[in-house]
Amino acid sequence: MEKQPRDSRKGPVPREVPPAVRLLLAMALMNALLYLCLGRVFISPQHYSGNPGHCPYGHFKIGQMKNCSPWLSCEQLRTEVRQLKCAGEGAVKRVFLSEWKEQKVALSRLTSLEMKEDFLHGLQMLKSLQSKHVVTLLGYCEDDNTILTEYHPLGSLSNLEVTLNLSKYQHMNTWQHRLQLATDYVRVISYLHRSPLGTLVMCDSNDLPKTLSQYLLTSNFSIVVNDLDALPLVNHSSGTLVKCGHRELHGDFVAPEQLWPFGEGVPFDDDLMPSYDEKVDIWKIPDVSSFLLGHVEGSDMVRFHLFNIHKACKSQTAAERPSAEDVLDTYQKVFNSLRDTVMSQTREML
Ligand SMILES: Nc1ncnc2c1ncn2[C@@H]1O[C@H](COP(=O)(O)OP(=O)(O)OP(=O)(O)O)[C@@H](O)[C@H]1O
Ligand SMILES: [Mg+2]
Repeated sequence: MEKQPRDSRKGPVPREVPPAVRLLLAMALMNALLYLCLGRVFISPQHYSGNPGHCPYGHFKIGQMKNCSPWLSCEQLRTEVRQLKCAGEGAVKRVFLSEWKEQKVALSRLTSLEMKEDFLHGLQMLKSLQSKHVVTLLGYCEDDNTILTEYHPLGSLSNLEVTLNLSKYQHMNTWQHRLQLATDYVRVISYLHRSPLGTLVMCDSNDLPKTLSQYLLTSNFSIVVNDLDALPLVNHSSGTLVKCGHRELHGDFVAPEQLWPFGEGVPFDDDLMPSYDEKVDIWKIPDVSSFLLGHVEGSDMVRFHLFNIHKACKSQTAAERPSAEDVLDTYQKVFNSLRDTVMSQTREML
């Protein structure tokens, strides 16, 4: 069969478009495309929500696993997990980068039997609080004092500056990503304050480095809490308050109600020390956030917009401090409004 000529329609022959007009048309098209894409560029990566791996209680799924696996037993921990090297250490646990079925995992070992009570409390909390806010539990063995969790190669929040200075992650070193991290941190606190077990206080946080060391930075730049060894329960309706440890605390990182109230003339006595509630965590938020915001272009603008809520967090009267939920809400509003401002400024420039 004979092929039809390409343009068999009759009509006037189109005139050649001058090159300058073509260039202008191409530029207009590029601008339109950029304008449309901006909305996507300025929206931060969505944080994963839901249970890790969406597995039933007592099961987990990490990495490329297709199915949920039950928590590993003592026997499996002894035979299937290969300990590689030390990845971190605290007062309660020594943590080893390890391997299980060709996957990197974190094996925590109790450092000293004196700390067994804290270790078991941490394990109980890990088991009960499995969610997107908490490191994924893979197994445990009380007889051997071991806990197996998902390994996070970027380590704890103490490493944040080092990580963000690596060329691989420099593109994440923006006020947007840093504010998202601060928001994530407040989200974890909010989760603990409204946990399935009740209102839990993050007690293992008497100074900034200690606080940072309890949270891990995941590879997709969100935050999970890792160390749940000191999470006492507040019950407002029964009047149950808490104390973070039995020793005297000092400094202005901890909330004022955590300090010995009777002056230097009276020696510290734990029995006389008044107890307090979850608002001690709220007092610490501005300091942790300020660390997470760091010193990049735009950090101070964010600090300025968070000034009022942070001032409220630092109320001397605990009851006047906002809830973690209120702080979270403000952080999200500030993020959205700053993102919209930057987006409309960029559009105006185009
Ligand atoms: N799953 C993990 N992936 C990567 N690093 C980890 C993991 N778990 C723990 N680490 C590293 O080990 C350090 C110590 O862990 P952890 O805070 O659980 O110990 P700890 O003895 O309970 O601490 P503390 O002295 O606060 O009681 C962490 O700060 C972190 O650097
Ligand atoms: Mg710790």
